[in-house]
Amino acid sequence: MKLLNSVNVVQPRTGCGGTGNCTCKGEQHNDMTQLVDAIQERYGQIAERGSFNESLASSCCGNASSLYSDTDLSTITPQAAGASAGCGNPVGIADVKPGETVLDLGSGGGIDCFLAAQATGDAGHVYGVDMTLAMLKLARENAEKLDVQNVTFLAGRIEAVPMPDESIDLIISNCVIALAPDKKLVFEEIFRLLKPGGRFVVADVVSTTELPLEARRNMAEWVSCIGGADLMSRYLDRISETGFVDLDVMTDVPFQSDADGDQWRESLRGVTVRAFKPASA
Ligand SMILES: C[S@@+](CC[C@H](N)C(=O)[O-])C[C@H]1O[C@@H](n2cnc3c(N)ncnc32)[C@H](O)[C@@H]1O
Repeated sequence: MKLLNSVNVVQPRTGCGGTGNCTCKGEQHNDMTQLVDAIQERYGQIAERGSFNESLASSCCGNASSLYSDTDLSTITPQAAGASAGCGNPVGIADVKPGETVLDLGSGGGIDCFLAAQATGDAGHVYGVDMTLAMLKLARENAEKLDVQNVTFLAGRIEAVPMPDESIDLIISNCVIALAPDKKLVFEEIFRLLKPGGRFVVADVVSTTELPLEARRNMAEWVSCIGGADLMSRYLDRISETGFVDLDVMTDVPFQSDADGDQWRESLRGVTVRAFKPASA
C-alpha cells in the first residue's frame, strides 16, 4: 500500500497544483507528483478500457446507469457512458441555458460536456479540461462520433485552467475536486474563470467527520475520491471564503463505498453544491 506523507496534511503552496513551476520542498513535492501520476494511471486505465468496470470501481464513484436517465444515455456514445466515473449529475440540476459558455473541470470521457452541449445549443459552447491524456483522447473520439461542434476538450489542470479570466457562465464538475490536494486553489480558479454573476454546480465527495489519517494518506483511497474528501463544513467554508455567495447544497446522499467494516466510511456523502460569483465582483 503506497502512503502519502504530507499531501493531505500540509497545504501545498500556490504553484504546486499548476504548471510545474512549484517551489515546494522535497517530500511534499514528491507526494504531489506521485499523486498526479497515480490519478493519471487510474483514470488512464478507465479511458483505455472504455468502461468503469468492477475491478477499477472498488470504493469509487457511481456508474452512468445509476446517475443518468435512459433518455440522456441514449444521446451519447456507449464509450462516454462506460467511462463515466462521476458521483452525481450536475448538468441535470444546473439549469444550463441556450447560448451559455460552460466549463467542465475533470471532464473524463466527456459525458457531462455532451449533455451540457445539448442544452447550450450551437449558440453556446462547452469546454472540458482534464489532465489525463487517455481521457482526453477518448473524449475527443466521442465528440467526433457524436458529431458535436460545440464542445472542445483541453489538456490542463483544474488548479490552473488554460482559459482567460471571467470567460465562463457556468462551471460544472463531477467527482474531481475530491481528488485535488489543494481545494482552496481550485475554488480560487473557479472564481477567476467565472463571469460576474456566473455560477458553479459541482458534484463531489465530502465527509461529515474527519477521516482517519491512515485513509487520507492511502494513495488507493485518494485516487478513489475518498482519501481527499474534505470535511463538509470546511469544504463549504472554503467556498464562502473565496467570495462566492448564495451557496446551496442541492443534493446530499450517502456516498456508496465498500464498507470494509470501517465505521468512518459511513460519514462519506455525495453532494452537489451550487454557488454564485457576485455580479459586482
Ligand atoms: C472520477 S473521474 C470523473 C470524470 C468525469 N467528471 C465523469 O463524471 O465521468 C476524475 C477525472 O478528473 C481528472 N482529474 C483529476 N484530477 C485532476 C486535476 N487536478 N486536473 C485535471 N484533471 C483532473 C481525471 O483525469 C479523471 O478524468
